[in-house]
Amino acid sequence: MQRDIARVLIDHETIARRVGELGRAISGDLTKAVRLEKGPDATPEDASIVLIPILTGSMVFVADLIRELPIKLRIQVVAVSSYPGKSMESKGVAIKSALPDDLTGAHVLLVDDILDSGHTMNIVSRLIKDLRPASFHTCVLLRKPGKAKVNLTPDYIGFDIPDEFVVGYGLDYDGFYRNYPAIAVLRGSAT
Ligand code: IMP
Ligand code: MG
Repeated sequence: MQRDIARVLIDHETIARRVGELGRAISGDLTKAVRLEKGPDATPEDASIVLIPILTGSMVFVADLIRELPIKLRIQVVAVSSYPGKSMESKGVAIKSALPDDLTGAHVLLVDDILDSGHTMNIVSRLIKDLRPASFHTCVLLRKPGKAKVNLTPDYIGFDIPDEFVVGYGLDYDGFYRNYPAIAVLRGSAT
Protein backbone atom coordinates (compact mmCIF):
# COMPACT_ATOMS: atom_id res chain seq x y z
CA MET A 1 0.00 0.00 0.00
CA GLN A 2 2.67 2.52 1.10
CA ARG A 3 4.57 2.17 -2.18
CA ASP A 4 1.49 3.36 -4.13
CA ILE A 5 1.21 6.60 -2.13
CA ALA A 6 2.82 9.64 -3.78
CA ARG A 7 2.24 12.09 -0.92
CA VAL A 8 0.09 12.79 2.09
CA LEU A 9 -2.30 15.70 1.66
CA ILE A 10 -3.80 15.70 5.19
CA ASP A 11 -2.12 13.77 7.98
CA HIS A 12 -3.94 11.76 10.60
CA GLU A 13 -3.38 14.25 13.45
CA THR A 14 -4.83 17.09 11.38
CA ILE A 15 -7.86 14.97 10.49
CA ALA A 16 -8.39 14.00 14.15
CA ARG A 17 -8.23 17.64 15.27
CA ARG A 18 -10.74 18.70 12.63
CA VAL A 19 -13.09 15.79 13.39
CA GLY A 20 -13.09 16.96 17.03
CA GLU A 21 -14.03 20.49 15.92
CA LEU A 22 -16.81 19.16 13.68
CA GLY A 23 -18.14 17.04 16.56
CA ARG A 24 -18.31 20.07 18.85
CA ALA A 25 -20.02 22.21 16.18
CA ILE A 26 -22.55 19.48 15.35
CA SER A 27 -23.35 18.75 19.03
CA GLY A 28 -23.87 22.46 19.71
CA ASP A 29 -26.12 22.95 16.69
CA LEU A 30 -28.16 19.82 17.44
CA THR A 31 -28.72 21.05 20.98
CA LYS A 32 -29.98 24.36 19.58
CA ALA A 33 -32.27 22.60 17.06
CA VAL A 34 -33.75 20.41 19.79
CA ARG A 35 -34.31 23.45 22.06
CA LEU A 36 -36.14 25.24 19.26
CA GLU A 37 -38.38 22.23 18.90
CA LYS A 38 -38.87 21.20 22.53
CA GLY A 39 -38.16 24.29 24.64
CA PRO A 40 -35.18 26.04 26.25
CA ASP A 41 -34.40 23.35 28.83
CA ALA A 42 -34.41 20.45 26.38
CA THR A 43 -31.27 18.45 25.63
CA PRO A 44 -30.52 16.21 22.62
CA GLU A 45 -31.65 13.30 24.85
CA ASP A 46 -35.20 14.62 24.51
CA ALA A 47 -35.23 14.23 20.73
CA SER A 48 -34.66 11.56 18.13
CA ILE A 49 -31.29 12.05 16.45
CA VAL A 50 -30.37 9.92 13.45
CA LEU A 51 -26.99 9.93 11.76
CA ILE A 52 -27.05 8.57 8.22
CA PRO A 53 -23.61 7.58 6.88
CA ILE A 54 -23.34 7.04 3.14
CA LEU A 55 -21.39 3.80 2.76
CA THR A 56 -18.76 2.74 2.02
CA GLY A 57 -16.60 5.85 1.85
CA SER A 58 -17.76 7.53 5.06
CA MET A 59 -17.22 4.54 7.39
CA VAL A 60 -13.85 5.59 8.82
CA PHE A 61 -14.87 9.24 9.17
CA VAL A 62 -18.17 8.33 10.82
CA ALA A 63 -16.50 5.90 13.21
CA ASP A 64 -14.35 8.78 14.51
CA LEU A 65 -17.04 11.47 14.29
CA ILE A 66 -19.63 9.61 16.39
CA ARG A 67 -17.12 9.33 19.23
CA GLU A 68 -16.87 13.13 19.21
CA LEU A 69 -20.66 13.42 19.62
CA PRO A 70 -21.60 12.97 23.28
CA ILE A 71 -25.24 12.58 22.30
CA LYS A 72 -27.77 9.75 22.31
CA LEU A 73 -28.25 8.89 18.64
CA ARG A 74 -29.12 6.17 16.18
CA ILE A 75 -27.22 5.23 13.03
CA GLN A 76 -28.99 4.21 9.83
CA VAL A 77 -26.65 3.55 6.94
CA VAL A 78 -27.43 4.11 3.28
CA ALA A 79 -25.27 2.24 0.77
CA VAL A 80 -24.60 4.00 -2.50
CA SER A 81 -22.33 3.16 -5.36
CA SER A 82 -21.06 5.28 -8.16
CA TYR A 83 -20.97 3.32 -11.41
CA PRO A 84 -19.59 2.00 -13.64
CA GLY A 85 -17.15 0.05 -11.45
CA LYS A 86 -13.60 1.24 -11.13
CA SER A 87 -13.41 4.88 -11.96
CA MET A 88 -11.90 8.17 -10.88
CA GLU A 89 -15.09 9.97 -11.82
CA SER A 90 -18.48 9.03 -10.53
CA LYS A 91 -20.72 8.67 -13.56
CA GLY A 92 -23.98 7.88 -11.85
CA VAL A 93 -25.37 7.05 -8.47
CA ALA A 94 -27.08 3.80 -7.51
CA ILE A 95 -28.78 3.37 -4.11
CA LYS A 96 -27.85 -0.13 -2.93
CA SER A 97 -29.79 -0.37 0.32
CA ALA A 98 -33.17 0.38 1.77
CA LEU A 99 -33.69 3.91 3.02
CA PRO A 100 -34.72 4.41 6.65
CA ASP A 101 -38.47 3.84 6.67
CA ASP A 102 -39.45 6.38 9.28
CA LEU A 103 -37.69 9.63 10.06
CA THR A 104 -40.74 11.55 11.19
CA GLY A 105 -39.70 13.92 13.95
CA ALA A 106 -36.03 12.95 13.72
CA HIS A 107 -33.12 15.37 13.55
CA VAL A 108 -31.05 13.92 10.71
CA LEU A 109 -27.38 14.36 9.83
CA LEU A 110 -26.35 12.87 6.48
CA VAL A 111 -22.61 12.15 6.29
CA ASP A 112 -20.39 11.39 3.31
CA ASP A 113 -16.66 11.16 2.73
CA ILE A 114 -16.31 13.66 -0.11
CA LEU A 115 -18.36 16.07 -2.16
CA ASP A 116 -17.05 15.96 -5.71
CA SER A 117 -19.68 16.64 -8.38
CA GLY A 118 -22.25 16.67 -5.56
CA HIS A 119 -24.58 14.22 -7.32
CA THR A 120 -24.39 11.60 -4.54
CA MET A 121 -25.23 14.04 -1.73
CA ASN A 122 -27.87 15.72 -3.85
CA ILE A 123 -29.76 12.53 -4.69
CA VAL A 124 -29.57 11.02 -1.21
CA SER A 125 -30.52 14.37 0.39
CA ARG A 126 -33.65 14.60 -1.73
CA LEU A 127 -34.70 11.05 -0.82
CA ILE A 128 -34.14 11.66 2.90
CA LYS A 129 -35.92 15.03 2.89
CA ASP A 130 -38.95 13.32 1.34
CA LEU A 131 -39.17 11.34 4.60
CA ARG A 132 -39.88 14.64 6.41
CA PRO A 133 -37.38 14.70 9.29
CA ALA A 134 -37.71 17.48 11.92
CA SER A 135 -34.37 18.89 10.79
CA PHE A 136 -31.90 17.91 8.09
CA HIS A 137 -28.21 18.72 7.84
CA THR A 138 -25.30 17.43 5.79
CA CYS A 139 -21.65 16.84 6.62
CA VAL A 140 -18.68 15.86 4.44
CA LEU A 141 -15.09 15.32 5.42
CA LEU A 142 -13.77 16.67 2.11
CA ARG A 143 -14.99 18.95 -0.65
CA LYS A 144 -13.48 19.72 -4.03
CA PRO A 145 -14.94 23.17 -4.59
CA GLY A 146 -13.79 23.31 -8.20
CA LYS A 147 -15.81 20.26 -9.18
CA ALA A 148 -19.33 20.99 -7.96
CA LYS A 149 -22.01 20.35 -10.59
CA VAL A 150 -24.96 20.89 -8.29
CA ASN A 151 -25.81 23.82 -6.07
CA LEU A 152 -25.28 22.19 -2.69
CA THR A 153 -23.17 23.45 0.21
CA PRO A 154 -22.89 20.94 3.06
CA ASP A 155 -23.60 22.38 6.51
CA TYR A 156 -20.34 20.93 7.84
CA ILE A 157 -17.16 20.57 5.78
CA GLY A 158 -13.93 19.11 7.14
CA PHE A 159 -11.53 20.36 4.48
CA ASP A 160 -11.66 21.93 1.05
CA ILE A 161 -9.08 20.21 -1.15
CA PRO A 162 -7.70 20.81 -4.64
CA ASP A 163 -9.06 18.83 -7.58
CA GLU A 164 -6.92 15.74 -7.08
CA PHE A 165 -8.01 12.14 -6.66
CA VAL A 166 -7.40 11.18 -3.02
CA VAL A 167 -7.49 7.93 -1.07
CA GLY A 168 -7.29 6.87 2.57
CA TYR A 169 -9.33 7.41 5.74
CA GLY A 170 -12.20 5.54 4.05
CA LEU A 171 -11.74 6.80 0.50
CA ASP A 172 -10.83 4.23 -2.09
CA TYR A 173 -9.44 3.67 -5.53
CA ASP A 174 -11.01 0.52 -6.99
CA GLY A 175 -11.86 -0.60 -3.45
CA PHE A 176 -8.32 -0.27 -2.09
CA TYR A 177 -6.57 2.14 0.32
CA ARG A 178 -9.58 2.75 2.58
CA ASN A 179 -7.45 1.65 5.54
CA TYR A 180 -4.65 4.15 4.86
CA PRO A 181 -4.81 6.43 7.93
CA ALA A 182 -4.24 9.77 6.16
CA ILE A 183 -5.71 11.48 3.08
CA ALA A 184 -3.20 10.89 0.30
CA VAL A 185 -2.58 11.18 -3.43
CA LEU A 186 -1.62 8.04 -5.34
CA ARG A 187 1.41 7.69 -7.57
CA GLY A 188 0.45 8.08 -11.22
CA SER A 189 1.53 4.52 -11.89
CA ALA A 190 -1.02 3.15 -9.43
CA THR A 191 -4.04 4.69 -11.13
P1 IMP B 1 -19.98 12.94 -6.31
O1 IMP B 1 -21.28 12.21 -6.45
O2 IMP B 1 -19.37 13.28 -7.64
O3 IMP B 1 -20.03 14.13 -5.39
O4 IMP B 1 -18.93 11.93 -5.75
C1 IMP B 1 -19.03 11.43 -4.51
C2 IMP B 1 -18.48 10.03 -4.44
O5 IMP B 1 -17.43 9.80 -5.42
C3 IMP B 1 -17.86 9.91 -3.09
O6 IMP B 1 -18.80 9.37 -2.18
C4 IMP B 1 -16.68 9.03 -3.35
O7 IMP B 1 -17.04 7.68 -3.15
C5 IMP B 1 -16.30 9.23 -4.81
N1 IMP B 1 -15.14 10.14 -4.97
C6 IMP B 1 -15.15 11.39 -5.48
N2 IMP B 1 -13.92 11.94 -5.48
C7 IMP B 1 -13.11 11.01 -4.93
C8 IMP B 1 -11.70 10.98 -4.63
O8 IMP B 1 -10.91 11.92 -4.85
N3 IMP B 1 -11.24 9.83 -4.06
C9 IMP B 1 -12.04 8.76 -3.77
N4 IMP B 1 -13.36 8.75 -4.03
C10 IMP B 1 -13.89 9.87 -4.61
MG1 MG C 1 -15.84 5.58 -3.55
